[in-house]
Amino acid sequence: MPGEVRVFPNLEGLSLAAAESFADAAAEAISQRGRFTVALSGGSTPSRLYQLLTLPPLRQRIDWSRCHLFWGDERLVPPDHADSNYRLARETLLDGVPLPVAQIHGVPVEVGEGNDVAQSYEEDLRDFFGRDELWPRFDLLLLGLGSDGHTASLFPGSPALEESQRWVVATPPGTLPPPVNRVTLTLPAINAAREVLFLVAGADKAGVLHHVLQGDVGLPAARVRPAGGDLYWFVDMAAKARSGGL
Ligand code: 6PG
Repeated sequence: MPGEVRVFPNLEGLSLAAAESFADAAAEAISQRGRFTVALSGGSTPSRLYQLLTLPPLRQRIDWSRCHLFWGDERLVPPDHADSNYRLARETLLDGVPLPVAQIHGVPVEVGEGNDVAQSYEEDLRDFFGRDELWPRFDLLLLGLGSDGHTASLFPGSPALEESQRWVVATPPGTLPPPVNRVTLTLPAINAAREVLFLVAGADKAGVLHHVLQGDVGLPAARVRPAGGDLYWFVDMAAKARSGGL
């Protein structure tokens, strides 16, 4: 079983622990490197985590002036669209913390079609992390788990799963809603992170979580194994239900 699994009674407990981990990772990165780089996850699970970061005590505990926010994936819709991961973060996090706008590194969905957006976002990442770097090294990378085993926008059977050079690629819709084109960090880019934290909640994730933790590499989430970083799974009891052996 890859990584450390922590089980919580419910989504609130999971989110509180994740918010504490976020703050701890920020403090460590800022003390060691003068900045904190985090890639946010989309989907609904992280919403409560994001809200908790805007409330005392964590809002004050985090030095937002040293934080840089990115996204692990984004849907190719306008930033004010209901399906936008950026909009989710703006409404639950960005509007509630004193984060300098220049440190919000959104996916440039406006530049064109999927490949244009992927290349542009990758250029932004390379400009930020360094042109000589083989991969971006996020201090913290948040991920969710789809009921089909996808993570970020890496869907089962996708050619994107075999990408070994690019940091960001465009992907077509998966089988789960919303049925929109996306861009996503690639597996090597994800696996270069210092810390990867999966947030998984709900009974609908129980079956897939079990298979992922058993190492079923047919499921994209099972291929997240940060070579030089820590991997954590924060799951609630409902998602644990059939994930025996946790
Ligand atoms: C996306 C997300 C995706 C999400 C999972 C889980 O853009 O769709 O990045 O990978 O994390 O689908 O979504 P829920 O948290 O809504 O279950």
